[in-house]
Amino acid sequence: MAINITFLGHAAFLLDDGNRAVAIDPFLTGNPLAAKKPEEIRCQAIVVTHGHADHLGDTVAIAKANQATAYAAYEITEYLQSQGVNVEPANPGGRVSTDFGWIALTQAFHSSSYEGRYMGMACGAVVHLGGVTVYHCGDTGIFGDMKLIGEIYRPDIALIPIGDRFTMGPELASRAAELISPKVAIPMHYKTWPLLAQDASGFKPKGVEVKVLEPGESWRYG
Ligand code: NI
Ligand code: MN
Repeated sequence: MAINITFLGHAAFLLDDGNRAVAIDPFLTGNPLAAKKPEEIRCQAIVVTHGHADHLGDTVAIAKANQATAYAAYEITEYLQSQGVNVEPANPGGRVSTDFGWIALTQAFHSSSYEGRYMGMACGAVVHLGGVTVYHCGDTGIFGDMKLIGEIYRPDIALIPIGDRFTMGPELASRAAELISPKVAIPMHYKTWPLLAQDASGFKPKGVEVKVLEPGESWRYG
């Protein structure tokens, strides 16, 4: 029961249990921190938290190259399907069984559009792979039900945006990590552009281990 977590830069991650790989928010083209090129990504599933270009990113190209299935809010999967991508639509509160485990979407306090098109509700995603549960918060402000999400899914790892302005900053992200109470919290969505917080030094949740991954860095958990 172990997975490798690779931080691809910004909010993009690759989870791999040695057998199956899941990409989350694979924004690489145009990402100043991108650790890989889209054509280097090998995965069977892609999870998209919301429609903004810094999350939807290279989903279409990566999905087609890998014949991967995309999991996202209904409106995002409608768009992806129109682009020829295999999809599994969902929405917050639901859980979707997969051949490697399951994926559940959660709420996020944020917006969701792509090139002016409504993309449904912005979400977070909980991914269960290789016996490990990872909660990618998506882009979000803090909300009290993060505690409930933590209680229900008991994530081993939480991927938490700390960049401020469009999401929580380091201070509120620390509070969020305390609410979720994962075993390990990994900061994301910072340093990509000058508008975002430039380092993770202020991300100091009480009672939660913090693991800072540099873009391109892989870490084995479990
Ligand atoms: Ni966003
Ligand atoms: Mn974003």
